[in-house]
Amino acid sequence: MDIFRTKSVEQSIRDTEAPEHQLRKRLTATDLTVFGIGVIVGTGIFVLTGQVAKEVAGPAVAISFIIAGIVCGLAALCYAEFASTIPVAGSAYTFSFATLGEFPAWVIGWDLILELALAAAVVSVGWSGYFASMLASIGIPLPSAIAGEDPVVNVPAVLIVAILTAILIAGIKLSSRVNLILVITKIAVVLLVIIAGLFFIKAANYTPFIPEAVATPRVEGLRAPLFQVLFGIAPVAFGVIGIVSAAAIVFFAFIGFDIVATAAEETIRPQRDVPRGILGSLAICTLLYVAVSIVVVGMQRYSELSTAAPLSEAFTSVGHPWLATIISVGAIAGLTTVVLVLLLGQTRVLFAMCRDGLLPRPLAKVHPRFGTPARLTLVIGVVTMALAGFVSFGELAELVNIGTLFAFVVVSIGVIILRRTRPDLPRAFRAPLVPVLPILSVLACLYLMLNLPVQTWVRFLIWMLIGIVLYFVYGYRHSRKVMPESKTYS
Ligand code: ALA
Repeated sequence: MDIFRTKSVEQSIRDTEAPEHQLRKRLTATDLTVFGIGVIVGTGIFVLTGQVAKEVAGPAVAISFIIAGIVCGLAALCYAEFASTIPVAGSAYTFSFATLGEFPAWVIGWDLILELALAAAVVSVGWSGYFASMLASIGIPLPSAIAGEDPVVNVPAVLIVAILTAILIAGIKLSSRVNLILVITKIAVVLLVIIAGLFFIKAANYTPFIPEAVATPRVEGLRAPLFQVLFGIAPVAFGVIGIVSAAAIVFFAFIGFDIVATAAEETIRPQRDVPRGILGSLAICTLLYVAVSIVVVGMQRYSELSTAAPLSEAFTSVGHPWLATIISVGAIAGLTTVVLVLLLGQTRVLFAMCRDGLLPRPLAKVHPRFGTPARLTLVIGVVTMALAGFVSFGELAELVNIGTLFAFVVVSIGVIILRRTRPDLPRAFRAPLVPVLPILSVLACLYLMLNLPVQTWVRFLIWMLIGIVLYFVYGYRHSRKVMPESKTYS
């Protein structure tokens, strides 16, 4: 069936060589690592740590970070192999087109929308939490209807997405220096939390390290993890079960290393440096996360952590509101780049899909003056604003996670397939122990997915169904049919 027609690796690479689509190759392994940390460190550590420790895992949230880090490590090795073999923008979408075919590639592209646009909304909600906390700390509290833990409309979140969308449309290229400064600020703040926080740790806050499992409304009904429902386990939070459920949520904090792969086309030596960038940024972030989470739950009793701005509030709670203000400012700067890059990543993936004809090609038209896909960016911006304003933070994050984990599953399977179908391709980076490692990666991702709430699964399946219908109504009929050298193996 031609819906499984693949786009050959050579074709994908050739597409990037057309003069009108050529991106400048300037990035090195260090740039990619900085870029990676810039996208990865965001709401996950600045916000979710508090929420998850308070509601699902207790002080053991550090173990949840380690579990999520290991799962990501497995997937990262697969991404690294792919990126070193097919150094083309588009990440999982491009990889799937090369291995599984057009329809699976569409499914992944559609799924990446869930990862990128939704993640941008989630991070902007996190941004808003810190923004409100900073304003409050200088004596300007925002009304609870427009900001804070449960607003009617999250106005700061909508505004930041609007501003960043405008910047993206106007084509302002965040120079690598600005990006570097923001990343340094963000990392400095994270290190400040770790080092300054050490002085305020109270050993008593670590007991119990793994709070006893309890039934809570937080995990009842549709909020119960699918795993608990499937195996008839009474829905509980905390305990060992809580640690794994929390891992499925804090997984959000690691999202972004996969976006490094989208910069492959702009890298001088992608075969060598993209794997380094992916694995390096992931390793550094994992270390930072584990350290921050251990410190924060030691500073404040887990049940008292803030769910909107836990890192800065922890310092307020120990009597240092000025440190809290510094942390808020750093978090705001750092989260801004995350939203920006997520929105940018989203436009790139959709742009690639429009270029292949799977979405309306006119959408990807480049604005004559700005030189950016202005229409596409505007559409994405408006949708993200709507999401950021009205949907609750935790639920959005879980939906992002399921979407991303699904992409990891497909990429891991893709590595095994590409080894079989194209053993001849040069692979500068080879994931170890194939096929065992990719299979482990698939199983680990599926396991985390099972630990997400039933409601998240329902939403995910509805989203994917809409995507499948769209493909047959539109993409299938409009995709570029002529692809020489394509291989079909269905
Ligand atoms: N990993 C990114 C964050 O935590 C998406 O904000």
